[in-house]
Amino acid sequence: MGYIEKMFGLDGVNIIITGGAGSIAGVLASELVKAGAKVCLWGRGTNHPVAAAVDKVSAAAGIAGRVFGVTVDTGLEAGIPEAIAETEKLMGVPNALINGAGGGKGKGPFVDLDIELFKEVVDMNLLAGFIVPTKIIAKYWIDKKIRGAIVNFTSMGSYVPLSGTWAYCSAKAAILNMTQAAAKEFAPYGIRVNAVAPGFFVGYQNKALLIKDEAAGELTDRGKAVIAHTPFGRFGKHEELAGAMVFLLSNAAAGFVTGISLPVDGGYLVQNI
Ligand SMILES: NC(=O)c1ccc[n+]([C@@H]2O[C@H](COP(=O)([O-])OP(=O)(O)OC[C@H]3O[C@@H](n4cnc5c(N)ncnc54)[C@H](O)[C@@H]3O)[C@@H](O)[C@H]2O)c1
Repeated sequence: MGYIEKMFGLDGVNIIITGGAGSIAGVLASELVKAGAKVCLWGRGTNHPVAAAVDKVSAAAGIAGRVFGVTVDTGLEAGIPEAIAETEKLMGVPNALINGAGGGKGKGPFVDLDIELFKEVVDMNLLAGFIVPTKIIAKYWIDKKIRGAIVNFTSMGSYVPLSGTWAYCSAKAAILNMTQAAAKEFAPYGIRVNAVAPGFFVGYQNKALLIKDEAAGELTDRGKAVIAHTPFGRFGKHEELAGAMVFLLSNAAAGFVTGISLPVDGGYLVQNI
């Protein structure tokens, strides 16, 4: 085995990816399979069917027998143990978790906040997107003495709030905070907790906010503002998140790395004047 393979190869890494039928997760999953991992896509099966996502990821990876799927709502604690058992049967014992469930919904002035929608978005990003699956899977790893790795999704809004997306940004700020807190809590068990902070990648969740007319390549005012604020002058391509993810999941490369949020943002966070 060559140096690069030893350092970054993910052979033996069995990854649960929540929100696994989503846009970023789908692309990441096929890249991680190419790096040697097995992946089990966990999705609600409501708007994005899991079986179709499994087929798509397998085809994109070009490798058979390494992509699996389980239908589960990661916001509902009661269903998680069964999803773990099903995952074990399909893929073997999972030893990594990517918390990919999440997304934005609603944008507007603070004084017009729809409180029910606010709760729904916080539930999706903070509870389904981190707390519920992490709680059960970390316990499972602690009981089995598995030194697992967790990668969460933070956001540019975790650092400085994006205008009008109150629930999403508050949930993502909480994920940044809890990535650090959980890293400290789980370190004695050898469990690492990190995050990737994507800049702006056009996906199912944010397309309407960023793109006015896809065929004409026309952006919304918000889309234009994002590009103007991104030193690279463009949106990210989903596969550009893969390197950060491979690094954080590799025990050889990142075995002493925990509690960080790694921006992959074309310089968005360092833009000033
Ligand atoms: N696209 C971006 O620019 C961007 C930027 C920063 C952070 N992120 C984060 O990256 C992650 C993936 O984003 P994306 O753009 O691929 O979004 P996406 O909407 O394409 O995918 C998210 C998936 O999560 C699933 N999901 C939501 N709630 C769920 C639940 N309770 N149980 C199971 N599945 C659930 C959705 O059905 C969807 O398939 C999200 O956490 C998002 O907030 C994205």
